[in-house]
Amino acid sequence: MRAATAPVREIAIFNTPEILSSPVGRIIEEHHNDRNDLIAMLLDIQDAMGFLPRFAMEHVATRLEIPVTEVYGIATFFKYFRLKPPGEHQCTVCTGTACHVRGAARVLREFERHLGIRSGEVTDDREYGLETVNCVGACALGPIVLVDGDYQGQVTASKVPTLLRRLKRSAEKKPVAARAEAAA
Ligand code: FES
Repeated sequence: MRAATAPVREIAIFNTPEILSSPVGRIIEEHHNDRNDLIAMLLDIQDAMGFLPRFAMEHVATRLEIPVTEVYGIATFFKYFRLKPPGEHQCTVCTGTACHVRGAARVLREFERHLGIRSGEVTDDREYGLETVNCVGACALGPIVLVDGDYQGQVTASKVPTLLRRLKRSAEKKPVAARAEAAA
């Protein structure tokens, strides 16, 4: 538990523009500055920001009075956490055991080849991101790929170009749809 009166150095850290304009402080408060909630806190920060920015992890460490290495340790141990901003469109290939035995590695290689990036990276224009996950609970339909959060089952390497084409088309349509919505 943090002392009621924060030292001057801490107050300065708490009031950086990055912190003030982000949900990080609020999320920590919602978890009552409780270090037992560290993972849940990081999950909430990532859900709100799309990834775990360095300043957010440092801020969490300061507020919880724990070493920043402890926060980094959690963030790097669990595959779910992202330390870099995701792509505008995110492709997630499940490489859990059930998907692996059905050819997930070939599917992943095909995504890497078409996008020109490795798992955990985003394209230079930040349009597409690629990552893997260990199991999303739909093993019977594996290999599973999530495209912008939508489940695609029984994906084979040969289906990857079609998936990416479809994704590209929907990405191109989006601004038009957004304009139509604004005009309505
Ligand atoms: S291993 Fe891929 S959904 Fe379970």
